Amino acid sequence: MRLDKLLAHTGFGTRKEVKELIKKRLVTVDNNVITKSNLHVNPDEQLIEVNKQKVHYQKYMYIMLHKPPKYLSATVDLYDQTVLDLIPLEYQHYDLSPVGRLDKDTEGLLLLTNDGQLNHAFTSPNREIYKTYFAKIKGKVFDNHIEQFREGIILDDGYKTKEAYLEIVKSDSISEIKLAICEGKFHQVKRMFRAINMEVLYLKRLSIGDLQLDKDLPIGKCRKLTEDELAYVLSMKK
Ligand code: URA
Repeated sequence: MRLDKLLAHTGFGTRKEVKELIKKRLVTVDNNVITKSNLHVNPDEQLIEVNKQKVHYQKYMYIMLHKPPKYLSATVDLYDQTVLDLIPLEYQHYDLSPVGRLDKDTEGLLLLTNDGQLNHAFTSPNREIYKTYFAKIKGKVFDNHIEQFREGIILDDGYKTKEAYLEIVKSDSISEIKLAICEGKFHQVKRMFRAINMEVLYLKRLSIGDLQLDKDLPIGKCRKLTEDELAYVLSMKK
């Protein structure tokens, strides 16, 4: 990889700024001062330092975002803000993409990464990874709905959903439920309730497989995955 690209990727500034650092003779590779920005380096095998500070190169980045409403799960959009607008500057050079999608008005756990293999592992329809949602539903949700969701719901396009696990937290004029589904059909949770003549008023994703939304992560904020979380998500690539 080119030296200027590596330094820009590791947060030492824009390509223009890192070229300046190189010109100022502040960059060394294996203790040799380097003055050429286009030098090809191998960060796994060479010691690269800026101002005597070791450059730590990480090819892939894995971010947990507590998605707020009003943001699209996309990388660019002409009209709306996207979840990438919530990513701090230090992670912006990683070319992150959301892993799966949440609707614009849905909140909760969204994973972002530049690891295409991981993104595929989590979104592939062949991998039945259960995702848990909390929802507020207009009207009373009853125990018989639990069995209905488990057996499968016929959606508006005739598709029968796979086994889903409904938990009733509160049954009232506005009910509260948790629902675990292993698929990611378009608007799936909302369509499952619509199919039984009920309406989702609020939706938040709590988990994807074993990855839980950090309760201390404020809405709209993100952070790198912890070591344990990372070990789990990487295990899904196998
Ligand atoms: N199901 C929905 O209806 N919306 C989401 O954002 C996620 C699951």
